[in-house]
Amino acid sequence: MSATAIAYPNIALIKYWGKRDEQLSLPATGSLSLTLDIAPTRTTVTLAPEADEDVATWRGRPMLDRELARIRSFLELVRGLAGSRTPAVVDTGNEIPTGAGLASSASGFAALAAAASTAYGLELSRRDLSRLARRGSGSAARSVFGGLVEWYAGDDATSYAEPLPAQGLNLALVVAVLDPGRKAVGSREAMRRTAATSPFYGAWVQSVPSELTQMRTAITRADFTAVGELAESNALRMHATMLGAVPPVRYWTGGTVAALDLVAQLREDGIEAYATIDAGPNVKVLCRPQDAAAVADRFAAAFAGLDLLISGSGPGVRVEEAR
Ligand code: DP6
Repeated sequence: MSATAIAYPNIALIKYWGKRDEQLSLPATGSLSLTLDIAPTRTTVTLAPEADEDVATWRGRPMLDRELARIRSFLELVRGLAGSRTPAVVDTGNEIPTGAGLASSASGFAALAAAASTAYGLELSRRDLSRLARRGSGSAARSVFGGLVEWYAGDDATSYAEPLPAQGLNLALVVAVLDPGRKAVGSREAMRRTAATSPFYGAWVQSVPSELTQMRTAITRADFTAVGELAESNALRMHATMLGAVPPVRYWTGGTVAALDLVAQLREDGIEAYATIDAGPNVKVLCRPQDAAAVADRFAAAFAGLDLLISGSGPGVRVEEAR
């Protein structure tokens, strides 16, 4: 059996930062994101009964040991569910290089979960697919669905994502790739350190549920301003918790601060734009689709040679081919 699946990255508007249970990949809080329509990951999983062990390639090239180990332990999980011991060959790739600053683990593990579960003959509901993807990378639970998506904290059975109805709320995201390099501290280690050492982390865990409630209300009302303000303040709070860690986790560069200044300036100039920042220096700007080109133009004018991507709301994971 062989299956190919395609999944898109997502950007959290209310962030996931820290785990309650590492083994089961259960988050300390719920989170809420927008699935993008750019930079998808396409992954093919082929069962290989004659092979000794799993093989994984990145567009045909061998993977780093660390990445291979993570894929193997995920395949172990799928084999456990399927009652199989057959190794697999995995080939994966992004349409845009991982360096573009969009988390590829969300699209990567959503695509791997869909392709592997199909190749091993599991017929999972979308909910169970989201629970499975969660085990590869937390944020992957959300990339199973398109548009606005909430991922519940819960326990192993109840920690899955679900799409949110968002009538009348049209969102675009302009991604400013200020620094395409690999981040100094991976998000997994950074969230672990924040939870263990930052005195602000408890306040973060306490405040996210009410931020989620406010965000759901803003979405139901299609109140773009409230969605943007909540998203920006949540991202700043997440980075504030990290700055309190020992040693501190600081992803921001001078470019990050300059981009935040520009977003504030855009608002003063009458273009409603709000910033969000993940585990890296890049700034993503939430705006209305009709303003996206103007936002991108202002960034291009302010930062020489900057890579810019414009995204709308994208679809959930899809199995393209199964043989
Ligand atoms: C800052 O989902 O990559 O992007 O579960 O350890 O694989 P693991 O972490 P991951 O973390 C994403 C962190 C974030 C915020 C978010 O997407 O909610």
